Amino acid sequence: MSEGGQKDQGAIDWEDLRAKAVEVQSRAHAPYSGFFVGASLLGDDGVVYVGANVENASYGLTICAERNAIAAAVAAGTRRFTALAVVTPAKKAATCCGACRQVLAEFPPSFPVLCFTNSGDEIMTSVTELLPYAFGPKHLDGDGG
Ligand code: THU
Repeated sequence: MSEGGQKDQGAIDWEDLRAKAVEVQSRAHAPYSGFFVGASLLGDDGVVYVGANVENASYGLTICAERNAIAAAVAAGTRRFTALAVVTPAKKAATCCGACRQVLAEFPPSFPVLCFTNSGDEIMTSVTELLPYAFGPKHLDGDGG
């Protein structure tokens, strides 16, 4: 851990995460927006869990790539994460939507998040940077701290 509470990013194989995000991006179900998103999530078990956005004819039921990757990890028994990479076809790197930020914050401690595009733009951020002062399980325990 560094001073800021982030895990050591040196151990993360970002090239592998990028490749896996791009691979799963191609399997997104996005017939309505045409906006294909892929996410690869490194668990602290060393396994990379992937997710793509899945849209629905009832538009509001759409689930983002990030939340599908989280669901895959949790279903496999992993709830602690080391890194997330998300690829979008945008011109400028698009960061995770608000709903996904809240779902990512459910699983502390924070971890680095790389948001990149197929055309080469990118932003390196983290869960706490994406959602400071997040509402979380600790608030339900009554301590709020
Ligand atoms: N989307 C994601 O999968 N992740 C994001 O971070 C932003 C948006 C999806 C939802 C929808 O299928 C499409 O992108 C357009 O909003």
